[in-house]
Amino acid sequence: MVSGNHRDRIYNFSAGPSMLPLSALETAAAEMTNYRGSGMSVMEMSHRSKVYLEIFNETKASLRAALSVPDTHEILFMQGGATFQFSAAPLNLIGENGEADYAITGSFSSIAAKEARKYGKINISASSEVKDFSYIPPPGALKLSGGAKYFYYCANNTIYGTEWQYVPETGGVPLVCDMSSNILSKPVDVSRYGLIFAGAQKNMAPAGMAVVIIDKSLAGRELPYTPKIMSYKTAIEKDSMDNTPPCYTIYMLGLTLRWLETRGGVAGMEKRKAAKAKILYDAIDASRLFMGCADKASRSDMNITFRTTDKDTDARFIRQAEERGLVNLAGHRSVGGMRASVYNAVPEEGARALADFMREFEEKNS
Ligand SMILES: Cc1ncc(COP(=O)(O)O)c(C=O)c1O
Repeated sequence: MVSGNHRDRIYNFSAGPSMLPLSALETAAAEMTNYRGSGMSVMEMSHRSKVYLEIFNETKASLRAALSVPDTHEILFMQGGATFQFSAAPLNLIGENGEADYAITGSFSSIAAKEARKYGKINISASSEVKDFSYIPPPGALKLSGGAKYFYYCANNTIYGTEWQYVPETGGVPLVCDMSSNILSKPVDVSRYGLIFAGAQKNMAPAGMAVVIIDKSLAGRELPYTPKIMSYKTAIEKDSMDNTPPCYTIYMLGLTLRWLETRGGVAGMEKRKAAKAKILYDAIDASRLFMGCADKASRSDMNITFRTTDKDTDARFIRQAEERGLVNLAGHRSVGGMRASVYNAVPEEGARALADFMREFEEKNS
Protein backbone atom coordinates (compact mmCIF):
# COMPACT_ATOMS: atom_id res chain seq x y z
CA MET A 1 0.00 0.00 0.00
CA VAL A 2 1.08 3.56 -0.63
CA SER A 3 2.18 5.18 2.61
CA GLY A 4 0.96 8.53 3.90
CA ASN A 5 -2.61 9.77 3.86
CA HIS A 6 -3.74 7.54 1.04
CA ARG A 7 -3.50 4.07 2.48
CA ASP A 8 -6.36 2.95 0.32
CA ARG A 9 -4.32 3.57 -2.87
CA ILE A 10 -2.58 0.52 -4.29
CA TYR A 11 0.41 0.14 -6.54
CA ASN A 12 -1.21 -0.21 -9.92
CA PHE A 13 1.03 -1.65 -12.64
CA SER A 14 -1.66 -1.53 -15.33
CA ALA A 15 -0.51 -1.08 -18.94
CA GLY A 16 -3.26 1.47 -19.51
CA PRO A 17 -5.44 3.07 -18.42
CA SER A 18 -2.95 3.36 -15.63
CA MET A 19 -1.87 5.31 -12.57
CA LEU A 20 -2.20 9.07 -12.71
CA PRO A 21 -0.42 11.43 -10.31
CA LEU A 22 -2.26 11.53 -6.99
CA SER A 23 -2.04 15.33 -6.90
CA ALA A 24 -3.81 15.52 -10.28
CA LEU A 25 -6.62 13.27 -9.06
CA GLU A 26 -6.94 15.22 -5.83
CA THR A 27 -7.11 18.57 -7.61
CA ALA A 28 -9.71 17.15 -10.00
CA ALA A 29 -11.70 15.90 -7.00
CA ALA A 30 -11.46 19.24 -5.22
CA GLU A 31 -12.54 21.09 -8.37
CA MET A 32 -15.12 18.52 -9.45
CA THR A 33 -18.32 20.40 -8.71
CA ASN A 34 -17.09 23.99 -8.77
CA TYR A 35 -14.03 24.79 -10.84
CA ARG A 36 -12.28 27.78 -9.27
CA GLY A 37 -15.48 29.61 -8.34
CA SER A 38 -17.11 29.15 -11.75
CA GLY A 39 -19.98 27.26 -10.13
CA MET A 40 -19.51 24.49 -12.71
CA SER A 41 -17.60 21.29 -13.15
CA VAL A 42 -15.11 21.31 -16.03
CA MET A 43 -17.36 18.55 -17.45
CA GLU A 44 -20.22 21.01 -17.67
CA MET A 45 -18.44 23.86 -19.42
CA SER A 46 -18.90 24.95 -22.99
CA HIS A 47 -15.70 24.25 -24.84
CA ARG A 48 -16.00 27.76 -26.32
CA SER A 49 -16.30 29.49 -22.95
CA LYS A 50 -13.56 31.79 -21.68
CA VAL A 51 -13.06 29.71 -18.55
CA TYR A 52 -12.59 26.49 -20.56
CA LEU A 53 -10.42 28.08 -23.25
CA GLU A 54 -8.01 29.11 -20.50
CA ILE A 55 -7.70 25.47 -19.42
CA PHE A 56 -7.28 24.37 -23.03
CA ASN A 57 -4.64 26.95 -23.90
CA GLU A 58 -2.72 26.42 -20.68
CA THR A 59 -2.62 22.66 -21.22
CA LYS A 60 -1.40 23.08 -24.77
CA ALA A 61 1.26 25.56 -23.68
CA SER A 62 2.41 23.24 -20.88
CA LEU A 63 2.72 20.34 -23.29
CA ARG A 64 4.62 22.50 -25.77
CA ALA A 65 7.00 23.53 -22.99
CA ALA A 66 7.36 20.01 -21.56
CA LEU A 67 8.40 18.50 -24.90
CA SER A 68 10.07 21.64 -26.30
CA VAL A 69 7.77 21.46 -29.32
CA PRO A 70 9.13 23.85 -31.97
CA ASP A 71 6.96 26.43 -33.77
CA THR A 72 7.12 24.32 -36.92
CA HIS A 73 4.89 21.76 -35.19
CA GLU A 74 1.27 21.99 -34.01
CA ILE A 75 -0.24 20.17 -31.05
CA LEU A 76 -3.65 18.58 -31.60
CA PHE A 77 -6.03 16.85 -29.22
CA MET A 78 -8.04 14.25 -31.12
CA GLN A 79 -10.73 11.82 -30.02
CA GLY A 80 -10.52 8.11 -30.72
CA GLY A 81 -7.33 7.16 -28.92
CA ALA A 82 -4.18 6.02 -30.63
CA THR A 83 -6.01 3.55 -32.88
CA PHE A 84 -7.77 6.43 -34.64
CA GLN A 85 -4.31 7.61 -35.69
CA PHE A 86 -3.54 4.22 -37.31
CA SER A 87 -6.02 5.37 -40.00
CA ALA A 88 -5.51 9.13 -39.78
CA ALA A 89 -1.76 8.95 -40.41
CA PRO A 90 -1.95 7.15 -43.78
CA LEU A 91 -5.06 9.04 -44.88
CA ASN A 92 -3.29 12.34 -44.30
CA LEU A 93 0.22 11.46 -45.37
CA ILE A 94 0.44 8.62 -47.89
CA GLY A 95 -1.03 10.45 -50.92
CA GLU A 96 -2.65 8.98 -54.05
CA ASN A 97 -1.01 5.64 -54.98
CA GLY A 98 1.51 6.33 -52.26
CA GLU A 99 3.87 4.14 -50.28
CA ALA A 100 5.09 4.08 -46.71
CA ASP A 101 7.68 2.06 -44.77
CA TYR A 102 6.65 0.38 -41.52
CA ALA A 103 8.83 -1.23 -38.86
CA ILE A 104 6.88 -4.04 -37.23
CA THR A 105 7.99 -4.52 -33.64
CA GLY A 106 4.78 -5.58 -31.92
CA SER A 107 1.01 -5.81 -32.04
CA PHE A 108 0.25 -2.13 -32.40
CA SER A 109 2.61 -1.53 -35.31
CA SER A 110 1.20 -4.68 -37.00
CA ILE A 111 -2.33 -3.35 -36.60
CA ALA A 112 -1.26 0.09 -37.85
CA ALA A 113 0.39 -1.43 -40.96
CA LYS A 114 -2.67 -3.55 -41.70
CA GLU A 115 -4.87 -0.48 -41.49
CA ALA A 116 -2.53 1.60 -43.66
CA ARG A 117 -2.63 -1.08 -46.40
CA LYS A 118 -6.17 0.08 -47.18
CA TYR A 119 -4.77 3.37 -48.43
CA GLY A 120 -1.47 2.63 -50.13
CA LYS A 121 1.48 0.29 -50.57
CA ILE A 122 3.09 -0.65 -47.28
CA ASN A 123 6.68 -1.86 -47.25
CA ILE A 124 7.84 -3.77 -44.21
CA SER A 125 11.09 -2.06 -43.38
CA ALA A 126 11.95 -4.51 -40.61
CA SER A 127 10.12 -7.00 -38.42
CA SER A 128 11.00 -8.77 -35.21
CA GLU A 129 8.01 -11.12 -35.40
CA VAL A 130 10.07 -14.28 -36.03
CA LYS A 131 11.57 -13.85 -32.57
CA ASP A 132 8.22 -13.12 -30.92
CA PHE A 133 8.87 -9.37 -30.97
CA SER A 134 11.53 -9.77 -28.30
CA TYR A 135 13.87 -7.16 -29.78
CA ILE A 136 14.11 -3.91 -31.72
CA PRO A 137 15.89 -4.23 -35.08
CA PRO A 138 19.25 -2.43 -35.08
CA PRO A 139 19.71 0.62 -37.34
CA GLY A 140 21.49 -1.41 -40.03
CA ALA A 141 18.52 -3.78 -40.36
CA LEU A 142 16.03 -1.10 -41.47
CA LYS A 143 15.31 -1.32 -45.21
CA LEU A 144 14.18 1.99 -46.66
CA SER A 145 12.20 1.65 -49.88
CA GLY A 146 13.10 4.97 -51.43
CA GLY A 147 9.58 5.94 -52.49
CA ALA A 148 8.04 6.11 -49.02
CA LYS A 149 6.04 9.16 -47.99
CA TYR A 150 6.84 8.37 -44.37
CA PHE A 151 8.58 5.87 -42.09
CA TYR A 152 6.43 4.48 -39.29
CA TYR A 153 7.47 2.93 -35.98
CA CYS A 154 6.15 2.39 -32.48
CA ALA A 155 8.65 3.78 -29.96
CA ASN A 156 7.66 1.52 -27.08
CA ASN A 157 5.97 -1.84 -27.44
CA THR A 158 3.57 -2.00 -24.54
CA ILE A 159 2.79 -5.70 -24.85
CA TYR A 160 6.29 -7.10 -25.43
CA GLY A 161 8.22 -4.67 -23.23
CA THR A 162 10.67 -3.44 -25.85
CA GLU A 163 11.65 0.15 -26.58
CA TRP A 164 13.58 1.75 -29.42
CA GLN A 165 16.88 2.98 -28.02
CA TYR A 166 17.53 5.11 -31.09
CA VAL A 167 15.66 7.33 -33.53
CA PRO A 168 15.65 5.83 -37.03
CA GLU A 169 17.66 7.71 -39.63
CA THR A 170 15.54 8.00 -42.76
CA GLY A 171 17.39 10.46 -44.96
CA GLY A 172 14.67 13.10 -44.92
CA VAL A 173 11.63 10.78 -45.10
CA PRO A 174 9.22 12.06 -42.41
CA LEU A 175 9.18 9.97 -39.26
CA VAL A 176 5.78 8.95 -37.92
CA CYS A 177 5.89 7.59 -34.40
CA ASP A 178 3.40 6.00 -32.01
CA MET A 179 4.66 7.15 -28.60
CA SER A 180 1.57 6.02 -26.69
CA SER A 181 3.44 4.20 -23.96
CA ASN A 182 6.57 6.30 -23.49
CA ILE A 183 5.62 9.90 -24.27
CA LEU A 184 6.72 12.34 -21.55
CA SER A 185 9.06 9.75 -20.03
CA LYS A 186 12.18 11.38 -21.48
CA PRO A 187 13.21 14.31 -23.67
CA VAL A 188 12.50 13.91 -27.39
CA ASP A 189 13.82 16.00 -30.27
CA VAL A 190 10.42 16.76 -31.78
CA SER A 191 11.99 18.52 -34.76
CA ARG A 192 13.12 15.11 -36.07
CA TYR A 193 9.53 13.92 -36.43
CA GLY A 194 6.87 14.57 -39.02
CA LEU A 195 4.18 13.16 -36.76
CA ILE A 196 4.06 11.95 -33.19
CA PHE A 197 0.90 10.56 -31.66
CA ALA A 198 0.09 9.02 -28.32
CA GLY A 199 -3.01 7.68 -26.64
CA ALA A 200 -3.54 9.62 -23.41
CA GLN A 201 -4.24 6.77 -21.01
CA LYS A 202 -0.70 5.89 -19.92
CA ASN A 203 1.45 8.89 -19.10
CA MET A 204 -1.07 11.66 -19.57
CA ALA A 205 -4.77 11.44 -18.76
CA PRO A 206 -7.88 9.24 -18.96
CA ALA A 207 -8.52 7.25 -22.15
CA GLY A 208 -10.25 8.35 -25.32
CA MET A 209 -7.88 10.98 -26.65
CA ALA A 210 -4.67 11.09 -28.63
CA VAL A 211 -2.16 13.87 -28.43
CA VAL A 212 -0.88 14.55 -31.94
CA ILE A 213 2.20 16.61 -32.71
CA ILE A 214 2.53 17.34 -36.39
CA ASP A 215 4.95 19.18 -38.59
CA LYS A 216 2.57 21.75 -40.09
CA SER A 217 4.21 21.47 -43.51
CA LEU A 218 2.85 17.89 -43.80
CA ALA A 219 -0.81 18.91 -43.38
CA GLY A 220 -3.06 19.44 -46.40
CA ARG A 221 -1.93 16.40 -48.41
CA GLU A 222 -4.78 14.16 -47.37
CA LEU A 223 -6.54 11.70 -49.66
CA PRO A 224 -9.77 13.22 -51.00
CA TYR A 225 -11.98 10.76 -49.13
CA THR A 226 -10.36 11.45 -45.75
CA PRO A 227 -13.15 12.00 -43.22
CA LYS A 228 -13.11 15.63 -42.12
CA ILE A 229 -12.88 14.50 -38.50
CA MET A 230 -9.55 12.81 -39.35
CA SER A 231 -8.03 15.69 -41.27
CA TYR A 232 -4.94 17.17 -39.62
CA LYS A 233 -5.37 20.27 -41.79
CA THR A 234 -8.88 20.86 -40.42
CA ALA A 235 -7.74 20.10 -36.87
CA ILE A 236 -4.93 22.63 -37.19
CA GLU A 237 -7.21 25.28 -38.69
CA LYS A 238 -9.85 24.75 -36.00
CA ASP A 239 -7.35 24.37 -33.14
CA SER A 240 -8.72 20.88 -32.34
CA MET A 241 -12.26 22.27 -32.06
CA ASP A 242 -13.96 21.34 -35.32
CA ASN A 243 -16.24 19.42 -33.01
CA THR A 244 -16.40 19.23 -29.21
CA PRO A 245 -12.95 18.18 -28.04
CA PRO A 246 -12.40 15.72 -25.17
CA CYS A 247 -12.68 18.63 -22.74
CA TYR A 248 -12.28 16.84 -19.44
CA THR A 249 -9.42 14.66 -20.63
CA ILE A 250 -7.56 17.77 -21.77
CA TYR A 251 -8.11 19.29 -18.33
CA MET A 252 -6.71 16.14 -16.69
CA LEU A 253 -3.69 16.29 -18.98
CA GLY A 254 -3.13 19.85 -17.76
CA LEU A 255 -3.14 18.63 -14.15
CA THR A 256 -0.70 15.82 -14.97
CA LEU A 257 1.60 18.31 -16.69
CA ARG A 258 1.50 20.56 -13.63
CA TRP A 259 2.69 17.60 -11.54
CA LEU A 260 5.37 16.79 -14.11
CA GLU A 261 6.69 20.36 -14.04
CA THR A 262 7.21 20.16 -10.27
CA ARG A 263 9.32 17.04 -10.76
CA GLY A 264 11.86 18.35 -13.18
CA GLY A 265 9.83 17.92 -16.39
CA VAL A 266 10.72 15.18 -18.86
CA ALA A 267 14.37 15.23 -17.73
CA GLY A 268 13.14 14.49 -14.20
CA MET A 269 10.90 11.72 -15.56
CA GLU A 270 13.86 10.18 -17.38
CA LYS A 271 15.78 9.86 -14.11
CA ARG A 272 12.73 8.47 -12.29
CA LYS A 273 12.00 5.85 -14.92
CA ALA A 274 15.63 4.73 -15.16
CA ALA A 275 15.71 4.21 -11.38
CA LYS A 276 12.45 2.23 -11.35
CA ALA A 277 13.40 0.10 -14.35
CA LYS A 278 16.81 -0.67 -12.83
CA ILE A 279 15.24 -1.86 -9.58
CA LEU A 280 13.03 -4.31 -11.48
CA TYR A 281 15.50 -5.48 -14.11
CA ASP A 282 18.14 -6.02 -11.40
CA ALA A 283 15.65 -8.18 -9.53
CA ILE A 284 14.90 -10.18 -12.70
CA ASP A 285 18.57 -10.62 -13.61
CA ALA A 286 19.51 -11.73 -10.09
CA SER A 287 16.69 -14.27 -10.02
CA ARG A 288 16.80 -17.98 -10.81
CA LEU A 289 13.02 -18.17 -10.96
CA PHE A 290 12.08 -15.15 -13.07
CA MET A 291 13.43 -14.27 -16.49
CA GLY A 292 13.00 -11.18 -18.64
CA CYS A 293 11.04 -11.60 -21.90
CA ALA A 294 12.77 -8.90 -23.96
CA ASP A 295 16.37 -8.88 -25.21
CA LYS A 296 18.46 -6.83 -22.78
CA ALA A 297 19.52 -4.28 -25.41
CA SER A 298 15.87 -3.58 -26.31
CA ARG A 299 14.32 -3.47 -22.86
CA SER A 300 11.57 -0.96 -22.18
CA ASP A 301 11.77 1.28 -19.14
CA MET A 302 7.98 1.59 -19.12
CA ASN A 303 6.67 -1.97 -19.51
CA ILE A 304 8.78 -4.61 -17.82
CA THR A 305 7.89 -8.09 -19.02
CA PHE A 306 9.02 -11.24 -17.21
CA ARG A 307 7.92 -14.80 -16.53
CA THR A 308 8.82 -18.08 -14.93
CA THR A 309 8.95 -21.34 -16.86
CA ASP A 310 5.60 -22.41 -15.46
CA LYS A 311 2.19 -20.85 -16.13
CA ASP A 312 0.75 -21.96 -12.80
CA THR A 313 3.65 -20.34 -10.95
CA ASP A 314 3.05 -17.13 -12.92
CA ALA A 315 -0.63 -17.21 -11.98
CA ARG A 316 0.22 -17.81 -8.31
CA PHE A 317 2.70 -14.94 -8.32
CA ILE A 318 0.15 -12.57 -9.83
CA ARG A 319 -2.50 -13.64 -7.32
CA GLN A 320 -0.25 -13.32 -4.29
CA ALA A 321 1.13 -9.97 -5.47
CA GLU A 322 -2.41 -8.69 -5.71
CA GLU A 323 -3.02 -9.68 -2.08
CA ARG A 324 -0.09 -7.35 -1.24
CA GLY A 325 -1.59 -4.41 -3.11
CA LEU A 326 0.61 -4.94 -6.18
CA VAL A 327 -2.04 -5.14 -8.88
CA ASN A 328 -2.48 -5.56 -12.63
CA LEU A 329 0.70 -7.59 -13.12
CA ALA A 330 -0.65 -10.11 -15.61
CA GLY A 331 0.98 -9.94 -19.04
CA HIS A 332 -1.17 -9.11 -22.05
CA ARG A 333 -3.66 -11.91 -22.77
CA SER A 334 -1.86 -12.65 -26.06
CA VAL A 335 1.52 -13.39 -24.41
CA GLY A 336 0.91 -14.34 -20.77
CA GLY A 337 3.61 -14.07 -18.12
CA MET A 338 3.93 -10.86 -16.11
CA ARG A 339 4.17 -7.22 -17.04
CA ALA A 340 4.89 -4.37 -14.64
CA SER A 341 4.05 -1.06 -16.28
CA VAL A 342 5.93 1.63 -14.42
CA TYR A 343 4.65 4.77 -16.09
CA ASN A 344 5.56 8.22 -14.79
CA ALA A 345 3.03 8.28 -11.97
CA VAL A 346 4.07 4.92 -10.47
CA PRO A 347 6.26 5.79 -7.49
CA GLU A 348 9.70 4.30 -7.00
CA GLU A 349 8.47 2.65 -3.78
CA GLY A 350 6.08 0.66 -5.98
CA ALA A 351 8.95 -0.75 -8.01
CA ARG A 352 10.84 -1.50 -4.80
CA ALA A 353 7.85 -3.22 -3.20
CA LEU A 354 7.45 -5.39 -6.29
CA ALA A 355 11.16 -6.29 -6.43
CA ASP A 356 11.04 -7.21 -2.71
CA PHE A 357 8.00 -9.37 -3.29
CA MET A 358 9.68 -11.13 -6.23
CA ARG A 359 12.61 -12.07 -3.97
CA GLU A 360 10.31 -13.23 -1.19
CA PHE A 361 8.21 -15.31 -3.61
CA GLU A 362 11.34 -16.90 -5.08
CA GLU A 363 12.63 -17.86 -1.64
CA LYS A 364 9.35 -19.59 -0.80
CA ASN A 365 9.04 -21.28 -4.17
CA SER A 366 12.48 -22.71 -4.82
C1 LIG B 1 1.80 1.55 -28.21
C2 LIG B 1 0.30 1.58 -28.32
N1 LIG B 1 -0.27 2.03 -29.45
C3 LIG B 1 -1.59 2.08 -29.59
C4 LIG B 1 -2.44 1.66 -28.59
C5 LIG B 1 -3.92 1.73 -28.79
O1 LIG B 1 -4.41 2.81 -28.06
P1 LIG B 1 -5.95 3.16 -27.96
O2 LIG B 1 -6.57 2.06 -27.17
O3 LIG B 1 -5.96 4.48 -27.28
O4 LIG B 1 -6.49 3.23 -29.33
C6 LIG B 1 -1.91 1.19 -27.40
C7 LIG B 1 -2.80 0.74 -26.32
O5 LIG B 1 -2.45 0.20 -25.33
C8 LIG B 1 -0.50 1.15 -27.26
O6 LIG B 1 0.07 0.68 -26.15
